Amino acid sequence: MVDQNAVYAAAGDPTPLPSLRWDEPPEGPVLVLLDQTRLPGEETELVCTDVPALVEAVRTLAVRGAPLLGLAGAYGVALAAVRGYDVEEAAGLLAGARPTAVNLGYGVRRALAAYRKVAGGGGGPEEAGAAALAEARELHRQDAEASARMAEHGAVLLRELLPGGGYRLLTHCNTGRLVSGGEGTALAVVRKVHRAGELRRLWVDETRPLLQGSRLTAWEAARSGMAYTLLSDNAAGSLFSAGEVDAVLVGADRIAADGSVANKVGSYPLAVLARYHHVPFIVVAPSTTVDPETPDGASIEVEQRPGHEVTEFVPTQVPGGAREAGMGIPLAPLGTQAYNPAFDVTPPELVTAIVTEHGVVSPVTGDAIGDLCSRSRQV
Ligand code: MRU
Repeated sequence: MVDQNAVYAAAGDPTPLPSLRWDEPPEGPVLVLLDQTRLPGEETELVCTDVPALVEAVRTLAVRGAPLLGLAGAYGVALAAVRGYDVEEAAGLLAGARPTAVNLGYGVRRALAAYRKVAGGGGGPEEAGAAALAEARELHRQDAEASARMAEHGAVLLRELLPGGGYRLLTHCNTGRLVSGGEGTALAVVRKVHRAGELRRLWVDETRPLLQGSRLTAWEAARSGMAYTLLSDNAAGSLFSAGEVDAVLVGADRIAADGSVANKVGSYPLAVLARYHHVPFIVVAPSTTVDPETPDGASIEVEQRPGHEVTEFVPTQVPGGAREAGMGIPLAPLGTQAYNPAFDVTPPELVTAIVTEHGVVSPVTGDAIGDLCSRSRQV
């Protein structure tokens, strides 16, 4: 059997299908998503012709990851506008589809503001829709640019913290091309040092229960020819105690004003392990993930997902993935209750540094986050 990922790696890691793209076939504009519930087995596109379909794609994680959710939100508003749906209602549905990633609401607000400015200034619906679409495209461009800058800043930070290269980096969830208009957040840094020949090994946490690490990050790592090893989340402790981890790199879904970081559940235990073992715990996120309106970690709303994602194994090749109870292979007795928060919150004192497109915040304090927010408002 041909290892298609090895073929891609040998070809220099060509960009796969974009994780999200706007298209205008004769039947009308659509938002096309790379269906992340079907990876790594299939590269299948999901075509959203309306906002309810997009909201469903957000809820089922066909489209996911904070920066990409921002783009989905912005393009979703544009889709409603150009197709003549109720734009205000669509914006509300999109912004409420998932609660933790602050970028989703941010993307929605940006496109909605562009739409309202034209519509409220006497422009027709067509003109207002075009303005929303232009704003979504601008956000897309900015996201790709921010990703490239984070990669640069993150690589410089690694060289400062760990002189000599040969990094063994541990990551959690998926933070690569699949979450971004560019190369992503934490995984963009990993790609950068990989290309520079400085990556010895990428340790990939499988990321229970929806396996974003094994299904998505390992897929990206394989395609790019990185030396990577997959581990079950509960094996991380033994890896640290064996001295096999030089730094942890993760993304973020929301960073509160005090520097608390909400990210995929399982990030906080890694931060505790990292501190105990004197290993840097580095968060890579665009400034759009910082939410000055959320004062601290306790104020971050953590999405609670259905228990059957834990009590059942849902083969990813089922169209729509882990969607309803009873569709999967039982992993626990019928009726078992499950605790299934999608995210956890790491307090700022456990975060060595936050890498943004504007530079590195370290140490992570409320003042330093405030300073970052004022710098990002200036550009
Ligand atoms: O539930 P998901 O898959 O959307 O969660 C994604 C994460 O937690 C990522 O680590 C986070 O969005 C940062 S990606 C840049």
